[in-house]
Amino acid sequence: MITASPAHADIMAAVHGAVFPDEPWDAASFASLLAQPGMFGWLDERGGLLLLRVVADEAEIITIGAVTKRRGIGQALLQLGLETARSLGAVKMHLEVAAGNTPARAFYNNVGFTEAGRRRRYYSNGEDALLMVVDI
Ligand SMILES: CC(C)(COP(=O)(O)OP(=O)(O)OC[C@H]1O[C@@H](n2cnc3c(N)ncnc32)[C@H](O)[C@@H]1OP(=O)(O)O)[C@@H](O)C(=O)NCCC(=O)NCCS
Repeated sequence: MITASPAHADIMAAVHGAVFPDEPWDAASFASLLAQPGMFGWLDERGGLLLLRVVADEAEIITIGAVTKRRGIGQALLQLGLETARSLGAVKMHLEVAAGNTPARAFYNNVGFTEAGRRRRYYSNGEDALLMVVDI
């Protein structure tokens, strides 16, 4: 696992683009996100990324993805994020997921995330966002 700094912005953007071809984030966005206080990023050499923000006792997944699915890449990244958040004193982890993103919802349910709310028509395609949370 590689700890990402702003110097990894290009590769973060490339991996993100491979996971989310319809909503690529450019390298400049990653450079600025990774420079923010409380932001942590990791790259999995197999093709995966996690961006996590930890502020006070709350953590938030900004983005997570695996290029090749069901090989444990997402799980490895999420576990690292959970351990890091816990070690910094976070007691909850939050995220937003598209209501129709069944694989991601199953992935989050698998580690204990539960639905904490819904933002109607949150995404540009009209889809709802689910707010999910887990005690860590
Ligand atoms: C969500 C995502 C990150 C999961 O990563 P992954 O590496 O494929 O998941 P893992 O192999 O680590 O799976 C861990 C467990 O989660 C659950 N899970 C993951 N994908 C699943 C699916 N499609 N259906 C059902 N359960 C699933 C399973 O319990 C799985 O364990 P198992 O394979 O031993 O049964 C991946 O599907 C992805 O990149 N999706 C596109 C990007 C995305 O939607 N990101 C989240 C936006 S909020």
